Amino acid sequence: GASSDKLRHVESMSQLPSGAGKISGINAVVLGESLAAEENDLIFPSPEFSADALVSSPKQYREMYERSIKDPAGFWSEIADTFYWKEKWNPSEVCSENLDVTKGPVHISWFKGGKTNICYNAVDRNIESGNGDNIAMYWEGNEPGQDGKLTYSELLEKVCQLANYLKSVGVGKGDAVIIYLPMLLELPIAMLACARIGAVHSVVFAGFSADSLAQRIVDCKPKLVITCNAVKRGVKPILLKDIVDAALVESEKNGVSVGLCLTYENQSAMKREDTKWQAERDIWWQDVVTKFPTKCDVEWVDAEDPLFLLYTSGSTGKPKGVLHTSGGYMLYTATTFKYAFDYRPTDIYWCTADCGWITGHSYVTYGPLLNGATVLVFEGTPNYPDSGRCWDIVDKYNVTIFYTAPTLVRSLMRDGSEYVTRYSRKSLRVLGSVGEPINPSAWRWFYNIVGDSRCPISDTWWQTETGGFMITPLPGAWPQKPGSATFPFFGVQPVIVDEKGQEIEGECSGYLCIKKSWPGAFRTLYGDHERYETTYFKPFAGYYFTGDGCSRDKDGYHWLTGRVDDVINVSGHRIGTAEVESALVSHPQCAEAAVVGVEHEVKGQGIYAFVTLVDGVPYSEELRKSLIVTVRNQIGAFAAPDKIHWAPGLPKTRSGKIMRRILRKIAARQLDELGDTSTLADPGVVDQLIALSDC
Ligand code: WT7
Repeated sequence: GASSDKLRHVESMSQLPSGAGKISGINAVVLGESLAAEENDLIFPSPEFSADALVSSPKQYREMYERSIKDPAGFWSEIADTFYWKEKWNPSEVCSENLDVTKGPVHISWFKGGKTNICYNAVDRNIESGNGDNIAMYWEGNEPGQDGKLTYSELLEKVCQLANYLKSVGVGKGDAVIIYLPMLLELPIAMLACARIGAVHSVVFAGFSADSLAQRIVDCKPKLVITCNAVKRGVKPILLKDIVDAALVESEKNGVSVGLCLTYENQSAMKREDTKWQAERDIWWQDVVTKFPTKCDVEWVDAEDPLFLLYTSGSTGKPKGVLHTSGGYMLYTATTFKYAFDYRPTDIYWCTADCGWITGHSYVTYGPLLNGATVLVFEGTPNYPDSGRCWDIVDKYNVTIFYTAPTLVRSLMRDGSEYVTRYSRKSLRVLGSVGEPINPSAWRWFYNIVGDSRCPISDTWWQTETGGFMITPLPGAWPQKPGSATFPFFGVQPVIVDEKGQEIEGECSGYLCIKKSWPGAFRTLYGDHERYETTYFKPFAGYYFTGDGCSRDKDGYHWLTGRVDDVINVSGHRIGTAEVESALVSHPQCAEAAVVGVEHEVKGQGIYAFVTLVDGVPYSEELRKSLIVTVRNQIGAFAAPDKIHWAPGLPKTRSGKIMRRILRKIAARQLDELGDTSTLADPGVVDQLIALSDC
């Protein structure tokens, strides 16, 4: 509950060195690089790039930024006017907010009273303006040679058919729909169909296990689940429908029964004859959806009506249902996409993220389509059939904007530059990075090798909660520093605070908070507004607390240094240590577990688990494997621990609190930095743990 959230939070504060001294950047330290050099290293966009850019100079950025801060209502209203509204918002209500818990309940609203629809603005509006024949989405399948495409007009027809089907089975405004699909075009189509009729989609990443899916179903009680029978990732088939079957059994046990499962037949992965079926509950997408009319009226919703729920990890075992609303999110994703990638109508845009994460919501689906962009959706994996696949795809579609995660950059960097230089990549214009801090050497490889030293990199810092980019380069405006997310986006006021919540000016480091709301901010945690306030607004009264550490250098550039709470970031996937711990302790032979993040060459952070077994159970390789399988089954393969460290006991204070600080040092093998262990109930535990390090 709320109080344990707070405890964990207070404990985790000790991770940051106190005082206003400079942190050299956790990221740089762990990867053995020195930021001192990077800080003074400026990489300028070419004069030609800047000349054509939407924002061409620091001066132009500053003018726009200052306006956005001095007059947020005016700034965002002008942008809102470029979208379609069925009814205008109340001009005196452009923004209403209270971020200060000491002054009453936290609330944020933008453009309340305005009636709009994000699907209409992302699809129909582009057709009305004469661009119906433009390609909205290209699709590249797992196998090279497998592909498809949809114009905006074709996309609208598909969305309408599904929207009509959803209405026919009783889905209406405000109803939740769970979408458990891989990267087929049907995934963004399903999101848009929900949005069109005012239903609230909740996409669950198709790498989550049946248990995790069930947990989300039980929380949001959807009218139906949309899935497909199977998908192939590389050579490996994944039977998604079987996972949904198991999740629905599990949900039923927890009192939530879902009577309808709309299943897309993903023929290249599995034939329908081979799919396990429950005739009274399951229905094939291809059998029903295609029979519905290709036109469907729009449900006009209030700007503040919910658009979607997306579950994310926090400090406790229970995932948080981050709730985003329609109007503000629409403006924010569209505007951030446009400026951070310096979008122009001739671009072909590819974001490698899955729609199961926020990046896929804001920057595969909504942001790009709201700009009328052409988006590439890729079903497969970057190293199948070999590590050159991404660049093969870039050349095949003439991709101009390529947006990915540092973990992918590092893994391709390890595979060797030959895979890259074999392809032309001359279409590329702008690169992007998201999910975790990008270490300077990966930044340089991305810049020099992938982008041939001519494409600026937008290192976008943001979160599921923020809806869109918060701190990001505008590629034509600023000289870049490898590894820095640079400056705030329009309307965003980042502040760095110390332990007491005092803002620190100038060159400094501390906790990253945001002052004032922005249109894309989440409005609550579904069903738990108290947790929303406790987690994000109580730590530092008056601010939104991001959970990240940050330093600002002498030139005002921001350097994100990673999470300061019990959340770890594995390959850009956010995982709560408590979630992994609760999966481990559910194993009958596990008595206790403590999980910490540890540096990982490719994944950024790896999962390091200290495990205490039930009395008398011997350590064995078999047991180690079975613990890992337990986590895979309960959360998903991406959460499997990289290391299980046998622990006869865990370092605890006399009041019984586990001292993770010490565990982090043991995991990182920084044994000379263990610090004070005298307050432990049993200081001997530490030596035992060290002795077992390599077992
Ligand atoms: C956390 C949010 C936002 C989309 C993907 C992850 C880390 C994200 C960066 C970046 C440094 C970053 C932060 C943040 N993060 N982007 N460019 N530089 N750190 O969304 O799962 O909500 O995770 O990812 O720690 O708090 P998420």
